[in-house]
Amino acid sequence: MAKIVGGVTTSHIPAIGNAMSKKLEQDPYWKRFFDGYEPVKAWLDEVKPDIAIVVYNDHGLNFFLNQIPTFALGCADHYENADEGWGLQTLASFEGDAQFSWHLVESLIRQDFDMAMCQEMLVDHGFITPMALMWRHLPKWPVKAIPLAVNTVQHPVASARRCYQLGKALRRAIESYPEDLKVVIFGTGGMSHQLQGERAGIIDVDFDLLCMEKIINDPEWLTQLSNTEIMEKAGTEGIETIMWLVMRGALHPNVKVVHKHYHAPISNTGAGVLVLENAEMTAA
Ligand code: DHB
Ligand code: FE
Repeated sequence: MAKIVGGVTTSHIPAIGNAMSKKLEQDPYWKRFFDGYEPVKAWLDEVKPDIAIVVYNDHGLNFFLNQIPTFALGCADHYENADEGWGLQTLASFEGDAQFSWHLVESLIRQDFDMAMCQEMLVDHGFITPMALMWRHLPKWPVKAIPLAVNTVQHPVASARRCYQLGKALRRAIESYPEDLKVVIFGTGGMSHQLQGERAGIIDVDFDLLCMEKIINDPEWLTQLSNTEIMEKAGTEGIETIMWLVMRGALHPNVKVVHKHYHAPISNTGAGVLVLENAEMTAA
């Protein structure tokens, strides 16, 4: 049966992609940020997942304001990246697993999560930045990847509670797949940031650190916040952090913290990194 080996949270900002193409990892501005990913890469090397389900939001590349699904799942065997105007290098195509995706979507819809099904999907910086952060040192992507897009761009946006429940349904969907696949789940985006308006540039380090602690030990706390409360604290784009709850919902209630790192600011955001393993897996 497929099993979830753990979850990773990460920022997905385009500036990271540009820093990687310019090889700025040792630059004083970037060093501490990138150093925070070395333990994540080591953990991934050790657990060797077969599949990464990348929970991210599209920022206007695949879905524009004319049509935005609340939740969408990639159901393709390949996903392409394309120029979205940030000066980012276009990355090599990502291999998917359409058969697994169709299983996930069937299970999710049976559990009342009415996903949009995408047999073609362009993946943007929300997806490619995490993939590159984890695996750019390898000659090719070592996993098949499945994009799970959550709308965080056009309000109304799904609640934190709904994202957490989606994660729980995702766990049941994954664990009912008969093939022996090791699955890692990436929760991307966040943490606090606002890119426009009067409060452009705000970062709330205390709120970010509280969110990281709650994601680990008390995710229900976060699910009780309304989207307005989250945006008051974390800024309008800080709402992206709700995607971490999809990842967290898919894990066991008790998790082992393999790695935790926070750095702010990076570009305009607070950047939090977590590697969480299912406690049951640790006990095995
Ligand atoms: C930035 C953050 C984002 O989440 C994003 O999608 C684009 C840019 C930033 O802080 O620069
Ligand atoms: Fe973003």
